[in-house]
Amino acid sequence: MDYAATTPVDPRVVETMIPYFTKFYGNPSSLNSFGIEAKKGLEKSRETIAEFMNADTDELIFTASATEANNLILKGHVFEKGKAKCHVAVSKIDHDCILNSAKWLEKQGFKVTYLPVDKYGLLIEDTLREVMEENVTLVSVVHGNNEIGTIQPIDKIAQICHEHGALFHTDAVQSFGKLPINVEDMHIDFMTINAHKMYGPKGVGALYIKKDLNIQPLTHGGGHEHGLRSGTENVPGIVGFAKAVELRKEEMHREKEQLTHFRDKLIEGALEISDVFLNGHPVERLPNNAAFRFSYIEGEALALNLDVEGIAASSGSACSSMVGEPSHVLLAIGLKPEEARGSLRLSLGKYNTADDIDYVLQVLPKVVKRLRTMSPLKP
Ligand SMILES: Cc1ncc(COP(=O)(O)O)c(C=O)c1O
Repeated sequence: MDYAATTPVDPRVVETMIPYFTKFYGNPSSLNSFGIEAKKGLEKSRETIAEFMNADTDELIFTASATEANNLILKGHVFEKGKAKCHVAVSKIDHDCILNSAKWLEKQGFKVTYLPVDKYGLLIEDTLREVMEENVTLVSVVHGNNEIGTIQPIDKIAQICHEHGALFHTDAVQSFGKLPINVEDMHIDFMTINAHKMYGPKGVGALYIKKDLNIQPLTHGGGHEHGLRSGTENVPGIVGFAKAVELRKEEMHREKEQLTHFRDKLIEGALEISDVFLNGHPVERLPNNAAFRFSYIEGEALALNLDVEGIAASSGSACSSMVGEPSHVLLAIGLKPEEARGSLRLSLGKYNTADDIDYVLQVLPKVVKRLRTMSPLKP
């Protein structure tokens, strides 16, 4: 129940990766035959992933994570434009790697605006339009939110940005491979993805950069990845990423139906417990995300107690749960800190079964009841 944090690597992905550790282990920049084989694997993978989003191969560069790709786009953009000419706007519910990059840029003297969302987590269009009057040069909005699952109308947001001369970036880590994404049709200029949320390996990400748009690199070296990300490519990881994408192509549509069915069953069942509320949009949400707020209990305690029962869940986003602060996403949708602290995210994936859902719905009410009996918060 924690697939939004990460996924198991599909055995077929592992199988595809192994020869790139043992046989085709050359450096893709080397001109010898080992290098040439590795380069072939690298470029074939780029082609597979680019094609899946309807991009050209030279519009995709590989990174070591989505975190790195998100840092690269924000910082690469402002270093390209210069302090006097850039103004970056990011949504308040973006991932910490966007928000903390934005805060760091602000400290360096760059202009940054944080875009609010409504109670469902949807970007507020009127505010976006107002902010756009202030010469915004880049807007970044997460496509499918990792905590509450809300899906933004990316194509519409991108068009508003373009009407005002701004570029548009989206973090599609949670949606890529779950929903169809066509960068051209959706008017996306830059997009971040990674492998480990879609049954691929950890430590591989990618950034789509539309042709003829320039950013500055953050790492300098041998000029790999069009000079934007120097460092020898993680060929086995990238080949695994491409295999994961290939499998998504085959499985995504069928799986979406199955996940949506499981998700809705979970939501319906959990909302039968008293004082439980859905976080995020009721309809415009990722097919695998069921996020809730439970009155009178702490999400952390709930997640830990579920873990004891064999259910892996998350009280906030896994990446920021070390922080101990209420989630910025939940505060941005208007929850009070104590409400935000009672949140639990269940996120599904392709290895979940109907029995898993039944088991959660059997265990959850009991755990909630037990915790509430002990809760000093319960009136
Ligand atoms: C929306 C979103 N963006 C970025 C990331 C960071 O991805 P990575 O682990 O590849 O750095 C995550 C991971 O949880 C995420 O959910």
